Parts: sequence; structure tokens; C-alpha cells
Amino acid sequence: MAKVDPWNVEGNVNYDDLIKDFGVKKISPELKKKLESISKSKGVELHHLIRRDVFFVHRDLDKLLKDFEKGQKFFLYTGRSPSGKIHLGHMFIWYFTKWLQDLFDVELYFQFPDEEKFLFKKNLSYEEVQKNLEDNMKDVAAIGFNPEKTFFIINTRHADILYPEAVKVAKKITFSNVKSAFGLTDSSNIGSIFYTSMQAVPAFLPSVGKEKKLNCLIPHAVDQDPHFRITRDVIEKVGYPKPASIQCKFLPGLRGFEEDSKMSSSKESSSIYMSDTPNEIKKKINKYAFSGGRETLEEHRKYGGNPDIDVCYNWLLFFEEDDKVLEKVYKDYKTGKLLSGELKNILIEKLTKIVIKHQEDRKKLKDLKKYLRKEKFFKKG
Ligand code: TRP
Repeated sequence: MAKVDPWNVEGNVNYDDLIKDFGVKKISPELKKKLESISKSKGVELHHLIRRDVFFVHRDLDKLLKDFEKGQKFFLYTGRSPSGKIHLGHMFIWYFTKWLQDLFDVELYFQFPDEEKFLFKKNLSYEEVQKNLEDNMKDVAAIGFNPEKTFFIINTRHADILYPEAVKVAKKITFSNVKSAFGLTDSSNIGSIFYTSMQAVPAFLPSVGKEKKLNCLIPHAVDQDPHFRITRDVIEKVGYPKPASIQCKFLPGLRGFEEDSKMSSSKESSSIYMSDTPNEIKKKINKYAFSGGRETLEEHRKYGGNPDIDVCYNWLLFFEEDDKVLEKVYKDYKTGKLLSGELKNILIEKLTKIVIKHQEDRKKLKDLKKYLRKEKFFKKG
């Protein structure tokens, strides 16, 4: 049985079990159609990660869209705990978040909880987290979020704004709530017990600043759901509406679903980092990518491969936007026309392009000031 909480994702995750355990809703065909018609009306295609059910569950997204159509705006909220280097398994969520920001033309609050992993990981020092923070912020900024409408929130540096709100949330959450939601115990450190109230704050901070109740949509991976389940349980008692969410599956690690369902920063051989060189990308994929191909060339030609368990195919599902290209890969691999080595090359080319573009965009950044103007959290309007 796989284990999934905000700090551990182990084993082969069964997403249907998660839906039941967490009580989230599948994105229904109707909801997909609604998103598609909104996209079409803005002249863009429905995002491939929704088309392919990578973003597959939600809370109250239907309600948020109905409100939106009635003229009620919302803001986006997501985040990153700076525990290490950024890899592709983080980036796709933020590419999707940018797509949402552009589609709806809304504000985005991006939290960097630079205390979280310090509190939850035994061997991570405060200084190391601060170094990661500087590095990670550049990667996020390189995505090119709308500078007029995007605000970075750093928990320790913006504590003066966050803490007064966090205590209001914390007062409504009991130790027993967090024990059961996160598997904490009597011997957990007291910082980790308080933490979820800090992650709750950006879900209503803009409402505090603008002095009106705004809807919030949080794009995130399913492992973060326990935080926002708690937030939703208490937030109305603090005076703000429950945040909605749209939640995705994990990008599997290079060694495949059985080994790791989620790309993990702590496993070099499982991840492609945004700082990798083309040669590193090529080497790692050729050496580690779990293949759904047959033992021998003859067998592969005769019986075909299994794209469903093949990591290269599954990664193309996340990063190849063109359905026709993806379908052709699927068919050709399954019928044995496309060999594992050739499939690896297709993926290597695709990812190298993405990583190189990212590195160029990152180099072009002057500074992060445009995202760090904290007085803007409280801009009225
Ligand atoms: N806890 C998240 C992590 O481990 C960081 C985070 C903070 C976040 N706020 C969020 C993620 C909102 C998604 C949505 O990286």
C-alpha cells in the first residue's frame, strides 16, 4: 500500500484509492467541457494536462467557475518549499499555473515556506534552506508570470504580514486535527504542528488586504490536499470563503512507477533538474529511464512495447503538447515500429529544449524585485 502525505510519497500510488481517502472529486466530463469552452472563448486550446487527466481532481472548481461567470473574480495560490533543486516534476505544475493566470487574467500568490522543510527534515539546516530559496525563486521567476499580478510570499521575511493571520487559523485547529491529517505524533516538534496554519494564510490573505471576500483557486499536487482540507474546515470560522483547488498526479521518477511514483529531489537518478546539462539529461535517460520495451529487438518488433509503463512515454504525456505526436508515439511503440532507444531520443530532444530555454530565461532575469513588493499584498481594488 502506497503512502501519501505532504512529506512522504512512497510506493506505487493508486489514484483511485486517494480519491476515496481524501474525498476529492474527479474532474467530470461536464467540467472539462466548461473549461474547454472558456479556453476556446479566449482563443486557446484546453491545456493538455487537463485533456490527459494529469490534473484530474478538484474541490469546488465548478462552484468557482460559476461565480466567475457571474463576474466574481478569483486569485490563484500555489507554492514551493525550498528543500533542494528544482526539477521537471515541479515545473509542469507551474507551467500550468501560468496558463491559468493568462487564461483568467488573475493575480497569483506564490508562497515560499522557507521554514517548512527545515522543520520537517532532520538533516536540512536553516542556512541551506535559505540558499535553496534564492535559487528556487529564480526558477519560478523564469517561468514569466505576469509581473503586475504575481506576488512572492516568503514565510520568514513576510512574517509580519502572515503571522497575525496564521494565529487566527491556528486557534481553530487542534493538535488532534493535525495528528490525524498528517500522521504527527506526541514527539513531533511543535513547529511542525503549527506549520499548516502558515500554508493556509495565502488562501485568504488577498481578501484581508482588499477587504472583500475573494475566491481562491489552488493548483497543486494531490499530496498537498491534507493542508487545504484542514484550511477548508476552519476558514469560514475565520471569516473567509473555502478555497477551491485543482489537483494533479505526480510526474513519475525516471526508474518507473514501481520504483517511484513521484520524482524526488533526493534521488539524483530519479530526476531531471532544471540545471542539468544536455549531456546529463541524455545520460540519465539512457541509463535509468524505465522501459516498457521487450528484451530483444526481434521480440520488440514482433510483439511491440508497453507504453503505459514506459517512463519516456509517460513523460511525453506531461511535456509533449501535441496530441497527434503523442498518439503516434503510442501506436508506433505498441506495434513495435518504434524502438526503446528511438523513444528515448524523442524524449531527450523534447526535454533538452525545455531545460535549455528555461536556463536562458533564468539568465535573462535582472532581479526579483518585481515579484517581491510586499505592500502590494494589500493593494486595494
Ligand atoms: N508545501 C508545499 C511544498 O512542500 C509548498 C506550498 C506552500 C504549496 N503553499 C502551497 C504548494 C500551495 C502548493 C500550493 O512544496
